[in-house]
Amino acid sequence: MNGSAGDADLTVGIVGSGVMGAGIAQIAAAAGLEVRLVDAREGAADRAVDEVRARFARLVEKSRMSAEAAEAAGQRLQAAPAVSDLADAQLVIEAIVEDLEVKQALFRELEAVVAADCILATNTSSLSVTAIASVLAQPERMAGFHFFNPVPLMKVVEVIDGVLTEDSTCEQLMQLARRMGHTPVRAADSPGFLINHAGRGLGTEGLRVLEEGIADVVTIDRIMREGAGFRMGPFELFDLTGLDVSHPVMESIYNQFYQDPRYRPSHETRRRLAAGLLGRKSGRGFYDYPQGKQQVPEEPPVPEQLPAQVWISPVVEDGARQVVDLLRRGNVTIDAGERPAGEVLCVVTPVGQDVSSAAVAQGLDARRCVGIDTLFGLQHRRTLMVSPVTSPEYVAQAQALFASDGVPVSVVRDSPGFVAQRVVAMIVNIACEIAQRRIATPGDIDRAVTLGLGYPQGPLAMGDAIGPARVLAILRGLERYYGDPRYRPSGWLTRRAQLGVSLLTTD
Ligand SMILES: NC(=O)c1ccc[n+]([C@@H]2O[C@H](COP(=O)([O-])OP(=O)(O)OC[C@H]3O[C@@H](n4cnc5c(N)ncnc54)[C@H](O)[C@@H]3O)[C@@H](O)[C@H]2O)c1
Repeated sequence: MNGSAGDADLTVGIVGSGVMGAGIAQIAAAAGLEVRLVDAREGAADRAVDEVRARFARLVEKSRMSAEAAEAAGQRLQAAPAVSDLADAQLVIEAIVEDLEVKQALFRELEAVVAADCILATNTSSLSVTAIASVLAQPERMAGFHFFNPVPLMKVVEVIDGVLTEDSTCEQLMQLARRMGHTPVRAADSPGFLINHAGRGLGTEGLRVLEEGIADVVTIDRIMREGAGFRMGPFELFDLTGLDVSHPVMESIYNQFYQDPRYRPSHETRRRLAAGLLGRKSGRGFYDYPQGKQQVPEEPPVPEQLPAQVWISPVVEDGARQVVDLLRRGNVTIDAGERPAGEVLCVVTPVGQDVSSAAVAQGLDARRCVGIDTLFGLQHRRTLMVSPVTSPEYVAQAQALFASDGVPVSVVRDSPGFVAQRVVAMIVNIACEIAQRRIATPGDIDRAVTLGLGYPQGPLAMGDAIGPARVLAILRGLERYYGDPRYRPSGWLTRRAQLGVSLLTTD
């Protein structure tokens, strides 16, 4: 690019004036850049310019932009009839149809038009930046510049290094992103880049829990939202995005990693996609949307019969302490014996283990055993887990006991890692693998996921909060139980857990 990213006269060409092109044009013009918008469809670029100017006008009405700034930004944004009108651009961002050959043809055409130091960028979300750049005489000047929808609100952009991209190309895009008010994160050209790669754990592990009949859709979503603090559970998110988008992305990333079981999608979404249960957009998905409003079933009623006595397994010290602290505030008698007496309710607090295994390992009567997940605290929602033989009478007593202070309780079937433990462990493990493969730095992974996916914390910070050794224990428990390499821990996690250091530690 001629001049630095701070120059007011920087001219940016944007090819493709659809959802993304128009969004990028908006933030670029608002940041003081001259923007030329080109689209192959007759009149599309002009309509996009009008639309962006109308958005500026709405921002003025809401006092979020001054009238002068809106006028100036609107003037800086112009439609251009053809790619040949971008000859003086210092940067061209492509946001056309997601098709490798069509994109390659456009870049060939662009390279013949622009100056030798013009940077070329693609907003592709799923194609290889390296493959698109492979048709260029100067592939070193091309990089991915991956924005998210809606561009003005999603304040993060991935700057993607193709195999032949020069460092300075990405550096200039990073500067420009900051000037446009976005946080740039840098990632290597790899399946799903950074954010879509890091987002695999929530959906695929949620589906695995569903497939196995451990819990239903609503329960899994409630646990992930209220128990683990996510803004949305996996199924609400599938419904929002639409399975016509999410299922192909799951398959594509899985196949691009040569069927690595960590990313294995589910037949559940394939069937639902075939049935047209796309989500909000089709009025029916994992939830129903009559008149566009999500219908959520009521919580089941809470039983009333409290247990006479409860015994708490001391095996997992921290979990036992949390349960004892909680129950001491109520009016249940705690059996403090080393072994449970008589017919008391037995509570275990396993990490990466199911209730059946915990009961057998500790020599407890599984009929009276209930597990409670203490990994995310007991304040907002409590997850109880039962073995196949836990008697309904004891399940009801445990429900009554743990809901007696008004905190909602979910009951799930036996699972090594309840629901939240295993879903979060998968999210942390995948983030560790992104760091291990040097796709992005630990800091960028956490920044990207917080901004791009809206998780309560970056996945590496999340792993640190739980404790890397405990995340490792959950994964080892899952791996042992299922014999599935899906759960194999990333080397990044294993070493940091062994050494007792933060998952953000670089080497
Ligand atoms: N929509 C999203 O959520 C999203 C998010 C991130 C990245 N992306 C990526 O951004 C790109 C654009 O996506 P979109 O959602 O804006 O698509 P869109 O369909 O809304 O817009 C694409 C535009 O490109 C134009 N076009 C197609 N071929 C062209 C060509 N050869 N030359 C000039 N114009 C051409 C079309 O007329 C259309 O106006 C895709 O690569 C997509 O994968 C999309």
